Formats: sequence, C-alpha cells, structure tokens
Amino acid sequence: MSEKRPRYLVTSALPYANGPLHVGQIVGAYLPADAFVRYLRARGEDVIYVCGTDEHGVPITLTAEREGKDPQDVVDYWWAHMKETFARFDISFDNFSHTSTPLHAENTQLFYRKLKEGGYISEAESKQMYSPTEERFLPDRYVEGTCPVCGYKEARGDQCDNCGSWYEAYELIDPHSKVTGGPAEVRETTHLYLDLPRLSERLREYVGGQEHWRSSVKNFILGIIDGGLEKRPITRDIKWGVPVPEPGFEDKRFYVWFDACIGYVSSTMEWAQNTGEPDRWREYWQEPDTRLIHFIGKDNTVFHSLVWPAQLMGVGEDGEEPFVLPYDVPANEFMNLEVVVEGERRAVQMSTSRNLAVWLHEALDRFPADPLRFYLASNLPETGDVVFSWREFGTRVNSDLIGNLGNYVNRVLSFTEKYADGESLRPESLPDEARAVLEDFKELERRYEERMLAPKPREALGELLAMGRRANRYFDASAPWKTRKDDPELTRTTLYVCSVLLGSIAYHAAPYVPEAIERLQTFFDGPVARVLDLEELPEAYRSTGAKPLFQRIEDEEIHAAEEQLSRAVRGE
Ligand code: MF3
Ligand code: ZN
Repeated sequence: MSEKRPRYLVTSALPYANGPLHVGQIVGAYLPADAFVRYLRARGEDVIYVCGTDEHGVPITLTAEREGKDPQDVVDYWWAHMKETFARFDISFDNFSHTSTPLHAENTQLFYRKLKEGGYISEAESKQMYSPTEERFLPDRYVEGTCPVCGYKEARGDQCDNCGSWYEAYELIDPHSKVTGGPAEVRETTHLYLDLPRLSERLREYVGGQEHWRSSVKNFILGIIDGGLEKRPITRDIKWGVPVPEPGFEDKRFYVWFDACIGYVSSTMEWAQNTGEPDRWREYWQEPDTRLIHFIGKDNTVFHSLVWPAQLMGVGEDGEEPFVLPYDVPANEFMNLEVVVEGERRAVQMSTSRNLAVWLHEALDRFPADPLRFYLASNLPETGDVVFSWREFGTRVNSDLIGNLGNYVNRVLSFTEKYADGESLRPESLPDEARAVLEDFKELERRYEERMLAPKPREALGELLAMGRRANRYFDASAPWKTRKDDPELTRTTLYVCSVLLGSIAYHAAPYVPEAIERLQTFFDGPVARVLDLEELPEAYRSTGAKPLFQRIEDEEIHAAEEQLSRAVRGE
C-alpha cells in the first residue's frame, strides 16, 4: 500500500522588480505557497521552494523610463527591497534569485536552442504596433485600445483585464500609445515564433488529465486549446531582455514571458550551486516523481498552464533534458480593499499607481508578521475575490488568533506552571473524555491535512481554529481549577492531555504563525507534533516562564492604518 513519497518543487510567481509588494500579491502567490511548504517540511517531505524577481519586460522599462534610470539599477534596487520584505514576512524561500543574471541568460538561450532543434521555432514577418511620433515599435504594454472581444475601452495590448481574452495588439480597436496617447499603427517586423499548434494535442491530453486542478483553471485552458492555438512570437523589438542567439536579431530581445518561467529553473540551479551540489537541480526538474507546483495569481494562468508546459514539452523532446510538467498550478483570485470614505465603508480595487494599496513593508512597520500572516491566511482568495479590511484584521486577530488559540496556550501553560510545578506527567490510562478529545483531534488533523495538501491553506486554517475551540472546550469541561484539590490524579491527566493538544495546535499553527511557534518552543518543552497514541507520547511535558504569544491589536492602531488608506482615496 505504501506509495513512494513524491519530491516537491514549489514556486511562487516571480514578481516584477519595479515597485514594493502589496498584500494582493502576497495572498495570491506567496503566503499560500509558504504555508504549504512549511507544512511539507514539518512532515519531513523532500521539498524546495524557489522564487526570484522578474526583471525583464515592459513593466520594468516603463518604470526605468519614467524615473530616468537604467533598468538594471531599477531591478537591483527592487530585488533587494523585495528580498528583505519577504524575509521580514517570514516567507521561507530556499532561494530568491533574479532574471538578469548571466546564468539565467544562458539558460534561456539553452531553452531556445533545444526548442529550435526540436523544430518548434520558426521565423516570420509580423505586424507590430509602431508609434510614428516616438519612432519606435511599441511593446504590448505600451499599447491600449478597445477589446476586440468585449468592447472594454482600456484593454491592454496583450490581454483584456475585463474578459480575460488573449490577442495580438494589432487586433485592438482604435489602438494608441500609452505613453503619449498618440495613435499607434501597424508595421512589419521579423520575429521568432513558438509553434504551439504542433503541441496542441499533447497539451490537451496533459491538461485534460489533471484531475486535481481547480476546475475553473482546467476548463479555461481547455477552452483556449479547443479554440485553436496559434504560433506565438517569442522575441520583441526592445533593448532590455535576454539577447537572442541568432544572426539578424542583435537589436531584439526575448519576450519577457519566454524567459520568465525559465527563471524558476535558473533559481533552482542557483540554489544547487549554493548548496555545493550544482547538479541537484535536475532531481527537482527532471525526476518523474517530482511534483512541480506553481502558485500564481489568476492573471498568470495562461502562461503557467499552457505556454510554459508547451516550452517544457518542446525542450524535453529529445530526451536529453526531460523536464517534468507542472503537477498543479494553484491560481488565486484578487483582493480588493475596504476603505473608509466620509465615514462610510466600501470596497475598492487596489490601485498601485494611486498609492491605494496596503504595501507589505509598511504593514510590517505597523504590526509583526504573524498577525498579518494569520489574517491574510484566513482571507485567501482561494475560491473568489476577497476584501482586505483593517477592521477585520483587528477582529480576526483578537478573537481567533488570541481569543481562541493564544488563549488556550496561555491557560494550559500558566495553570501548569502555577499548580503543577510546570510539569505534566503521562498517566497510565485515559478517562473517556480524554479519549474522546484525542479522537476528535485526529479527525480534525486529518481534515486539516487534506485541505492543506489540496492546497487550500485557508480552509486548513479553519480546521486549526476548530482544534482550538475543541481544546478550549475540553479544558473548560475538565475544570482543572476545580478538580485540583480533591482529585490531583485526574487533574494531572487533564493537564497532560491539554499539553498533547497544545503540541498539535502548535504544529498545525506553525505554517501560519512561524515566529510565535518558535518562541513557544523556548518555554514549552514537548513535541510540537500530531497527536499520537498514548504509549508513543513523551513521559512529561514541561513549561517554564511561559508568556503570551501575541499582542492584542488596539483600535487606535486600526484607525491609524485606515486613515492612511482614506488619505490615499482623497488623493492626499
Ligand atoms: N512578473 C509576472 C507578474 O508579476 C509574473 C511572472 S511569473 C513567472 O505578473 F514565473 F513566470 F515569472
Ligand atoms: Zn475584453
């Protein structure tokens, strides 16, 4: 029956290195991945977690142009800023790389050569948007117009944010330059293309066979395949990006979405080099028992679930570099913001350009990582859009994290220290109530595990809270403060069982509030682990100098945070 355990390679979308991180990004691709990875590590699974910044593409050059800087300086600055912010938020990457490294350029060119050898690359003249006033070709993101599918007026050059359609910029109605507002026209230029149509049967089979994918993702991609795939250009008339190793292409660069996902491979290679075993990246990318899991925001779905698998299939074809395909691509929905305007609460879309966003580094200046992680994890957009609310943050932290979980830990440990010399010894046998609560816990642990591995960390958190409620109920019903005079034996058993539950709660809470659980282990001496049978449990649990794990969030702190958003709404 025992199946060989898989090896996990987990990634979070590579953020563009052109500005600070906001909570919308965090709930999309980072926090759920980090909780998942921390859980896998605690179980002793073989897992590595890689990420890095996405440093090519128009978002970068737009920022550089606006600020009059060199793109390299822009990305270096934001790479360092993001790395530090992720560290402050306890995102536990095994490697955080970036895509402007020589290693990544070589790797991208290797991918290109392999695809070319496999016959997946062709060259063709194409129509490209050109701005006569600026005298240059306009990348997709510099072009705006009316969506040819739904008629949305501010559709982007490559994708419509309103209906999700995916098209060529010249298909837009009434196209114009985003920079100058002036008209954009179509001109001929030569580019390299990736032959997606030749892979469409294999892609259909691959996507169709993914029973565990979220059905929304699967149906979306199957719909695109059934609609007929076209060859996609992988080069652009731009100066910033990975050079194209072909004569005649000296003035062009690879399209950012050609090299971006390859960044996951490059980051893994860098990780392997840093561990001193430079070939180990192959274990994670090329052994068939690897589960490759890409956490992303839903706007990245097409690239990760269709184009990227196509690249991997094409590169692996000759068998020399046989890449695994994504096992899962958990895509999360969006997060809106609750703002208070003239005393009224309403939800608005985040707008980074209007500074209408909750920036992670600023949130971390106000509050520690754990309560922020806890609230965001309880509010992940796993099944639909969600709203970030500072008021709700205060409520959830004070009532669930502190009132339920923190309070339980406090009660058990302070009682043990006060009345049992900080020690609870294993009883010979267990009364019915103790058996019952341990059985209930095993069931809750099973439910948690199933949800966390799905991966649905928000739902798993719900089970953790149920554990907290069940444990509190057991403590209340056993009333050790009453039994301690006439039945010390029973009291001892109660405290022992409470410690077992505490160890389980801590184990299951650690993916969400890692810092607190580390601190807990400086005064709580006992396994932080799942509930085991009585004989397998330790002879004693001990506690010395226990302190509350979390600090209440005060109303004034919430008001200050809300006021900052209100100012942004008012344009101040
Ligand atoms: N930089 C892209 C974004 O922020 C995501 C790229 S994910 C990648 O939307 F892995 F492909 F790089
Ligand atoms: Zn549209």
